[in-house]
This record gives sequence, C-alpha cells and structure tokens, in this order.
Amino acid sequence: MTAKLIDGNATAKAMRNSIKERVDARLEAGKRAPGLAVILVGTDPASQVYVSHKRKDCEQVGINSKAFDLPATTSQQELMDLIDSLNKDSEIDGILVQLPLPEGLNSDQILERINPSKDVDGFHPFNVGRLAQRMPVLRPCTPAGVIDLLDGTGQDITGMHAVIVGASNIVGRPMGLELLLKGCTVTTCHRFTKDLEGHVRQADLVVVAVGKPGIVNGEWIKEGAIVIDVGINRLDTGKLVGDVDFEAAAERASFITPVPGGVGPMTRAKLLENTLFACEELHD
Ligand code: GUN
Repeated sequence: MTAKLIDGNATAKAMRNSIKERVDARLEAGKRAPGLAVILVGTDPASQVYVSHKRKDCEQVGINSKAFDLPATTSQQELMDLIDSLNKDSEIDGILVQLPLPEGLNSDQILERINPSKDVDGFHPFNVGRLAQRMPVLRPCTPAGVIDLLDGTGQDITGMHAVIVGASNIVGRPMGLELLLKGCTVTTCHRFTKDLEGHVRQADLVVVAVGKPGIVNGEWIKEGAIVIDVGINRLDTGKLVGDVDFEAAAERASFITPVPGGVGPMTRAKLLENTLFACEELHD
C-alpha cells in the first residue's frame, strides 16, 4: 500500500474531547447542558445500532440526549406533534429523526417540520439552501466530517477535480456543495451516469457514497488521488467494507479512508458539534 490512511477514529476522538471541554466550561459557568432529542421509529436493526451509538456519544461529552423510541405504527400526525413539542422545548437544541422512516411515513414532511435552528442533521431545506448559497448554518454531518478529514491531510484541494459517486440528499448532494465551497470542480455521478469509470479515472479526489461494495474498482483510481469511502456494507462473512475496492485503490491513492474507522466516526462527532453549535450560537 502506498496511500496514507486517513484516521477518522483519531480525528473524531479529538473532536469529542474538545466538545466535552466546551460543554464542561458551560456547566462550570452555570449554563445548561446542550440537549439532543433522538427519535427512532420502528425496529430497523442498523438504525437501532446507529441511534445507540449517537446516544452513547452524547453521554460521553455531556450532551443530554432524550430518547424517543416509537413503534413502526406511529402515524404521520403523531410524529409531527412530537416534533412540534420538541421545537418548543427550550432544553432541546437538536432534533434528530433517524432515517429511513418506516414505509407510510413521509420523511420530507417530517424533516421540514423541524425548526431549522434545531436541524442538527442539516437536512431542512433552509439549511440545504443556506449551504447552496455559501452561507451555511447547520451543515449535514457526513459531508462536513469529510471536509474536516480532507483539511487534516494538509493537502490544498482548491481547483481539484472532485468526483462524487452517489447523489443522495444525505451525502452526495451536500458533499458537492461543500466541495464547491472549497473551490473544487465537482462532478456528481449517479445511477444514470453513462461512464462511471471514465469519470473516476479523471478525479483528483473521489468521494463514494452509494452503499454497494466494489462499485468503484480500485484500478480506476488516478495515481496520487485522494479517496474518501463513505459506504458501510456488511458482507455475508460479517466483515464491514466500504464501496471502494480498498486494496487496489490504496496502491494508487495518496490518501484513503478505511472502513470502518474513516468517515463513520466523523459523522457521529459532527452531530455532537452541530448540537453544541445550535445551543451556543442559535439558542443561548
Ligand atoms: N440515516 C443514515 N444516515 C443518517 C444521518 O446522517 N442522519 C439521520 N438522521 N439518519 C441517517
């Protein structure tokens, strides 16, 4: 392997330590702890794991997390009513609705109901719009975490050709906006893209967020490119892998994120940072 590994675990740990110090300083100054409402609807096993991690992270840094575990039979109106009450709750700085929601619930309408100042996922059209207009407030956690990892490499990505694979609302689209802000030339590939290989071969920076192991062949990576793998896939063997064929990509890349231990921990740390930001900058 020639690529340097980008250590998301270490970066996220440093971020959590700094958040804990800031929360402790608030408490010492007699201010309230930041509060995060974490809403899980249904029993999707992956979502249960993600949510339990998020709650544990909160505890570790001194953020009060309030758990709402609702049955899959919860109605749209019940969920909207819960959001309304959390929007009014002065102890709550952030409202996180774990996605995907069970079938029958309209997640767009739910996300739009959250007060944008409590939208710590950065999914509300207000926050997406502010990011698009170069005036970000609360930024989606995964793309913002990727930017921190890129900053940590010490490489200047200005003017790089960044190729994003995947155009989801959660990662691909806001990732494009973040990379535009950094001065990259951005190409976004998606299910209708005709020549994925051709695009990836040209990239100075590749961000892959699809959820399909091996969708990016490691041999497509340009010599010296930076590779960010957002995918988390569990193989039948139980092994966790990303979307990029890691071994072959690491032979060519200058920097690469591992899975696990790359982007995942940063997404979690950014949620804590957004909650503290909402508390101190938007609600105090
Ligand atoms: N499901 C997958 N990723 C995310 C995320 O970042 N936030 C929420 N709320 N749900 C998700």
